[in-house]
Amino acid sequence: MKNTVTLTDNRNGKSYEFPILDGTLGPSVIDISNLYKDTNMFTFDRGYTSTAMCRSEITFIDGAKGELKYRGYDIDWLAKNKIFLDVIHLLLHKKLPNQVELSEFRTRLKMRSFINEKMMSLFSAFPDRAHPMAVLQACVANLSAYYKRDMNFDDPVEYMELAERLVAKMPTLAAFYHRYTMGYPFIYPDLDRGFTENFLYMMRSFPHSHVNISPIEVKALDTVLMLHADHEQNASTTTVRTVGSTHSHPYSCVSAGIGALWGHAHGGANEGVIKQLEEIGSVDNVDKYIKKAKDKNDPFRLMGFGHRVYKNYDPRAKVLKSLRDELIDEIGIDSNLIKIANKIEKIVSEDDYFISRNLYPNVDFNSGLILKALKIPTAMFAVMFVIGRVPGWMAQWMELKEQDTIKIVRPRQLYVGPSSQNKDENLEKSNIEFSSSKDR
Ligand code: ACO
Repeated sequence: MKNTVTLTDNRNGKSYEFPILDGTLGPSVIDISNLYKDTNMFTFDRGYTSTAMCRSEITFIDGAKGELKYRGYDIDWLAKNKIFLDVIHLLLHKKLPNQVELSEFRTRLKMRSFINEKMMSLFSAFPDRAHPMAVLQACVANLSAYYKRDMNFDDPVEYMELAERLVAKMPTLAAFYHRYTMGYPFIYPDLDRGFTENFLYMMRSFPHSHVNISPIEVKALDTVLMLHADHEQNASTTTVRTVGSTHSHPYSCVSAGIGALWGHAHGGANEGVIKQLEEIGSVDNVDKYIKKAKDKNDPFRLMGFGHRVYKNYDPRAKVLKSLRDELIDEIGIDSNLIKIANKIEKIVSEDDYFISRNLYPNVDFNSGLILKALKIPTAMFAVMFVIGRVPGWMAQWMELKEQDTIKIVRPRQLYVGPSSQNKDENLEKSNIEFSSSKDR
C-alpha cells in the first residue's frame, strides 16, 4: 500500500496525492509542501493546531499518555537522576555529559556568567516597577550588540559558544534586575557555586554577610528549571524559530521568544495560580470558587488546571507535587495556601466536571507554590520560566541552523476584505489641494 493520502476536489473531481511522513514517535504527518503548486489552494489552520512546522529531534510529548521526553529521556527519570546542568548539556550538545564533560561544562558556564559592565547602565533606563519580562527582553536584545561583529552564525563552534554564553548569563541578568529594583547592591556570580545555587546567592546575598541556601532549595529550583527546559513547538519556541528563519541574531530570536512567553496564556500562569489562591484566601471559600469554575456563564477558570496538549496527567506536575511535599517538610510553605491548594486538588480529582474534561493539575499549579517558598518575587515567576527555557530555545535555534536549507517562515492567509473599492471623486479633488498644503 502506498504511503500517501489523496485529496479530491469535489468541485471538479480532480485528485491529488500527498506523501505521509512517519516520525520515530507520535502522529505521522501529511507532507503538503506541494499543495499550493499542485492545487492553487492553501490550508487553513488557525493556531496551527494540525500543523507540524518543522522536523525535530529534541523533545517529544504524548499528551494522551502524559509523556514528556528530552532527546529520548523521560522527564521523570531526568528529574530523579540528573541536574539542570546535565539537561542543558543534553539539549545543546545532544548527549548527557560524563563526569569530566560535566565539570568542564560547569566551568565554561561559570566563566561566562558575568555581563559586560557597560550593560549596568541599561537597568537605570527603566522606570521603577518595570515588569521584569520587559527588562529581560531588552537586556537579551541588548546582548546581541556585544556579540555580532566577529561572530559567524553559520559556524557550529561559534554558535555553540553563543548558546552557552546566553544560558550562563540569564541568571545574572535576572538577579541583577531584582537587585536594581530593590535598590540593593549588585552581587556578582560566585565561581565556587553551582549554576542554580549561584542564582539564589545573587538574589539573596549582601556584601560581607553569610547567606543561607539549603540543599533542598537548590534541588527544588533546579528541578523547576529542568522541567521548563523545552516543550516542543509551543508559542515562544515557534517565535524563536520564526525569527531565526530570517537569519536574525540568535539573541534577537530569544528576545522575541521572551515576548511571546510573557503573555498570561503562556508563561504567566504560575503567577496566576498564586494570585488566585490568595484571592480564595481560606479553605472555607474553596467550594464557592469551584462552583464558579463549573458555571458555564462565569468566565472564571481554576488556574493551574488543564492543558492544551496533556489530556492525561502533566508529567511535570507529578514531579513537582512530590518536590512540594519535600519542601513542606524541610522549609515550610505558606500553610494556608497549601491547605487551599490541597482542597482544590482533592475536589478536582473526584468531581465529574473536571474528570470528564480531563482537567488535571498542570506544571504551573505547584511551580508557583515552590517558587513562592523559595522567596522568588511573584512578578519574577515568568523570568524563572525564561531561565529554564533558554537552553531549549537555543537548542531549537541550533537545530534550525543545522538544516540543509532554511526556509523563511511565511504563512499565507484567507483574505476576506473588500475585493475592490470605488474611487472617491471628492477625495481625489481634495488630494490635489492637500498635496500642495503645508499640513502634509
Ligand atoms: N477551570 C475550569 N474549567 C476549565 C478549565 C479550568 N482551568 N480549563 C478548561 N476548562 C473547561 C472549559 O470551560 C471547557 O468546558 P466546556 O467543554 O464545557 O466548554 C473544557 O474544559 C475545555 O476547555 P478548553 O479551553 O477548550 O481547553 P484548552 O485545551 O483549549 O485549554 C488551557 C487549555 C488554556 C490550559 C485551559 O485549561 C485553562 O485555561 N487553564 C487555566 C489556565 C492555566 O493553568 N494555564 C497554564 C497552562 S500550562 C502552561 O502554559 C505551561
